[in-house]
Amino acid sequence: MAEHTPPLLLIGCGNMGGALFEAWVAAGLAPSVVLDRKKEAIPAPHRLVRSAAEIPADFTPSVIVLAVKPQTAAQAIADLLAARPDIAANATVLSVMAGATTAAIGAALFGAGSVARPVVVRAMPNTPSAIGRGMTGLFAAPEAPQAIRALSESLLAAVGATVWVEHEEQIDAVTAVSGSGPAYVFLLAELLERAGVEQGLPADVARLLARKTISGAGELMDRSPDDATQLRHKVTSPGGTTAQAIAVLAAKDAWPTAISEAVAAATRRARELAV
Ligand SMILES: NC(=O)c1ccc[n+]([C@@H]2O[C@H](COP(=O)([O-])OP(=O)(O)OC[C@H]3O[C@@H](n4cnc5c(N)ncnc54)[C@H](OP(=O)(O)O)[C@@H]3O)[C@@H](O)[C@H]2O)c1
Repeated sequence: MAEHTPPLLLIGCGNMGGALFEAWVAAGLAPSVVLDRKKEAIPAPHRLVRSAAEIPADFTPSVIVLAVKPQTAAQAIADLLAARPDIAANATVLSVMAGATTAAIGAALFGAGSVARPVVVRAMPNTPSAIGRGMTGLFAAPEAPQAIRALSESLLAAVGATVWVEHEEQIDAVTAVSGSGPAYVFLLAELLERAGVEQGLPADVARLLARKTISGAGELMDRSPDDATQLRHKVTSPGGTTAQAIAVLAAKDAWPTAISEAVAAATRRARELAV
């Protein structure tokens, strides 16, 4: 992250906002303000406030990070503007909220049809961000200044890898692949564990095998220059045990169809939820 990260106002410090804030503090964040009604404490010199009305009058953030649930965002923005009408005037607005479009956020903050929309950046991180292994897709309008892109990217790079998408609708596919993706992997762990028990293993042994296999394979893929197909081939001897299993899983109507339909369903849902 940039050495002199400008002061932030973080609105919502729960699972995702909390993971981001922790990483920013560790990386050396300029004195900032966190607005959250549940968070118990944050380290000095950062300040924690319970409502927008408590934001210190002398604090003007360079970045406003929106990390509340999308359904509570409108109220949070309305409260913010009621307390500090000009607070977003010169700020970069970074939203990690699923579904909330840059147009909707820009309209809520700056008024419908606002020309300030280029300063709204959308980011879709995932839960491994909590351990610095996140994957975040980012979108900004084409006219967004390069400095705003660089700052947004460095903020998300503090919790893992980042990638930009060119079109805002692509954030829905990012949501379906990497945003929801950890859940698919956890489901695989559950199913692998269950299958191990079916094949005669004690439950705790099957659980350990499933967890460590998935985390180890993920780490191996992360560190290896090989792509996933090459790594798979290295485990799959012709006529061996893995080949038997892969023949079942990779059959056209098995995983290829299931994964493709699952990601399509998640993308559709992200689109439906978009406001
Ligand atoms: N968790 C993920 O995997 C993930 C991944 C990608 C994106 N996101 C996005 O990140 C956002 C936050 O998700 P989350 O899981 O971190 O939610 P969360 O744990 O519920 O955190 C939101 C926090 O903000 C507080 N809050 C909301 N409105 C407030 C207000 N007006 N004033 C003060 N505090 C307020 C909430 O308090 P109350 O509970 O009292 O409202 C809560 O402590 C969502 O938009 C989600 O789409 C999450």
